[in-house]
Amino acid sequence: MIWYREHGRDLPWRNTQDPYVIWLSEIILQQTRVEQGLPYFHRFLEAFPIVTKFAAADEGEILRLWQGLGYYSRARNMHKAAKMVVDEFGGVFPQRYAEAIRLSGVGEYTAAAIASFSANEPKAVVDGNVYRVLARYFGIAEPINSSQGKKRFAKLAQEVMDVDHAATYNQAIMDFGALQCRPKRPHCAGCPLRLDCVAYNAGSIEMLPVKLKG
Ligand code: ADE
Repeated sequence: MIWYREHGRDLPWRNTQDPYVIWLSEIILQQTRVEQGLPYFHRFLEAFPIVTKFAAADEGEILRLWQGLGYYSRARNMHKAAKMVVDEFGGVFPQRYAEAIRLSGVGEYTAAAIASFSANEPKAVVDGNVYRVLARYFGIAEPINSSQGKKRFAKLAQEVMDVDHAATYNQAIMDFGALQCRPKRPHCAGCPLRLDCVAYNAGSIEMLPVKLKG
């Protein structure tokens, strides 16, 4: 948390608790880098400042705005989800994990992001950054993409999260993975966690996390 205050990125979706805006940013950022996603995020918000506008848009316009991001099923699912918010939630975008996860295209990661960032619900986000930080810090060589591994990491992520500061904690661990505990050439020399980092102390940083091919 101290690290995050000093090094965290100031990203536009972090200055809001609006679950619609958070959802928009998280779907765009799936399989898309932050720098590439930013202009799309702004364009979508400008075209559809509220979820009811998104729901009422025609699909052609959504797909046109999406052009260049690929994985068009994401855009179609977004449209479906926006319509579900109108039909099933009275046009009020859900903040709670249990409700958000019912929306089209919203999986565990996105539901945890929506719930924690918008309502501080203590649900740990588990993305590639989180897998890497946890695998290294705790020295876990179990593959992150095996069904056992997924369960183990999800459980661990939930156990170590700061439940009183869910939003900040989740943003912090993602940035920590993206900026400090990078996939290649992580900044171990200046890392505040290195004394207790199992992989650092064992010299196995570059070997973790383990991911099965296929
Ligand atoms: N990538 C996906 N979600 C993100 C977020 N909330 N902050 C930074 N990078 C992200």
